[in-house]
Amino acid sequence: AIEGDRVLREPICCILGHVDAGKTKLLDCIRHTNVQKGEAGGITQQIAATYIPVDYIKERAKPCEGVIIKVPGLLVIDTPGHESFSNMRSRGMSLCDVAVVVVDIMHGLEKQTVESLALLKDHNVRFIVVLNKVDRLCGWKHCPDAPIKKALENQSGNVKREFEWRLSKVVTQLKENGFNTALYYDNHKFQKVFDIVPTSALSGEGIPDLLLMLLLRSQATMMEKLTFVNSVECTVLEVNDDKDLGTTIDVVLINGLLHKGDQVNVCTKQGPVVTTIQDLLTPHPLKELRVKGIYKHHKELKAAQGVKIVARGLKYAIPGTSLIVVKPGDDLGQSEAKRQMNENEEGNVIQEISSLKTCKEGVYVQASTFGILEAIIEHLNSPGVNVPVSGCNLGPIEKKDVMKASAMLKRKEEYAAILAFNVRVMPEAAVLASESGVKIVTADTVYKLVDSFNEHIKRSKE
Ligand code: GTP
Ligand code: MG
Ligand code: NA
Repeated sequence: AIEGDRVLREPICCILGHVDAGKTKLLDCIRHTNVQKGEAGGITQQIAATYIPVDYIKERAKPCEGVIIKVPGLLVIDTPGHESFSNMRSRGMSLCDVAVVVVDIMHGLEKQTVESLALLKDHNVRFIVVLNKVDRLCGWKHCPDAPIKKALENQSGNVKREFEWRLSKVVTQLKENGFNTALYYDNHKFQKVFDIVPTSALSGEGIPDLLLMLLLRSQATMMEKLTFVNSVECTVLEVNDDKDLGTTIDVVLINGLLHKGDQVNVCTKQGPVVTTIQDLLTPHPLKELRVKGIYKHHKELKAAQGVKIVARGLKYAIPGTSLIVVKPGDDLGQSEAKRQMNENEEGNVIQEISSLKTCKEGVYVQASTFGILEAIIEHLNSPGVNVPVSGCNLGPIEKKDVMKASAMLKRKEEYAAILAFNVRVMPEAAVLASESGVKIVTADTVYKLVDSFNEHIKRSKE
């Protein structure tokens, strides 16, 4: 997209909100996908980006004649709403240009809505409030994919009144949290007043409005920020252990160009690592990076994009840090990576645990992504749960992991356990575990995992 002599990149939009407000369902409705249905326990446990091309938005939103869209599309990042996943929420939020805060119209503001609003205020990020689940208003007449104003006009007096009443409640709650808001089509002061877009993620009312407003408000308020430049700005979102690809990192390319073969400096737990990009993978447009096996391979990628990078030496990469492209003879990358490492040392729970020299008493945790590892540890540390952690690792469970966990057998036997999330158990490791009495607990959600571990403790005490 070209505006005068400017080339614009896609705004990066982070979806935030309380558990079950409908964040993932909303994205499913936009993409015509069914990700939410396939989620274990119906909860999102990962952070993932989806590319939405502008032509698709034009087709869905049918902008009025004369409306000029200047940005080339949208990069949308879904986040989990559950309490233990604050790491992923703040990671998504700290790199986005604009946010969508999803509120369930029947519930109003909830705990993680308020948490998200506070974070947005801290980071000075503009957002649109989505008032979702309008189809749950008593007597709602479905108007699939209709603009919300039209859909509301079609409703009975009772539905309209319930809508107005619930809307005004939410407006008041938002005001109490320090934000002035208005229905987007009544909002004539959008520099100061935040938009509200009512939607249904089930039948699609309001979705055209949301897509269009995201583009129009972004280009109206942050032209400078959305100007494409050649220098690379790129943040690590997640570190994954992939069965076929080994350890990869998911990054958000915020600006600039990345190439296969580029030398990059990555911040890792063991210091800055220089490595070569072996492959650049993206999902297809309107698909999510976490849907496996259908990647597109690229020689070059232009911001904004969600990208999976295949390279060596990524195992201990730290999410939230920047990826720096190094040019031959350039040592700036090194010093910048070191600076970031120091900055990230604080509050990095995994780093803390891995640096424990004296083996403290606690369980061992193993997961397929860095983010899940953090979420499990956060949940284990939370007041109601209170299970200490002695060690953790990313990727398949190997013999050495079982050996580390088995150190607890003599100290506190019930902690001789590996809490494993979405990782393989290597055959030798399984044998060693059963011989030595190390319990391997598995489950498909963070919460069930900790519950099963507590069950195990209860049983072993009986
Ligand atoms: P977390 O990722 O766990 O934080 O939840 P979420 O905000 O992504 O919510 P999700 O998309 O998982 O939706 C939660 C439940 O609400 C699901 O059962 C959805 O089908 C339902 N739901 C979402 N949007 C709507 C809507 O607009 N109308 C109705 N009736 N149900 C909805
Ligand atoms: Mg979700
Ligand atoms: Na959910």
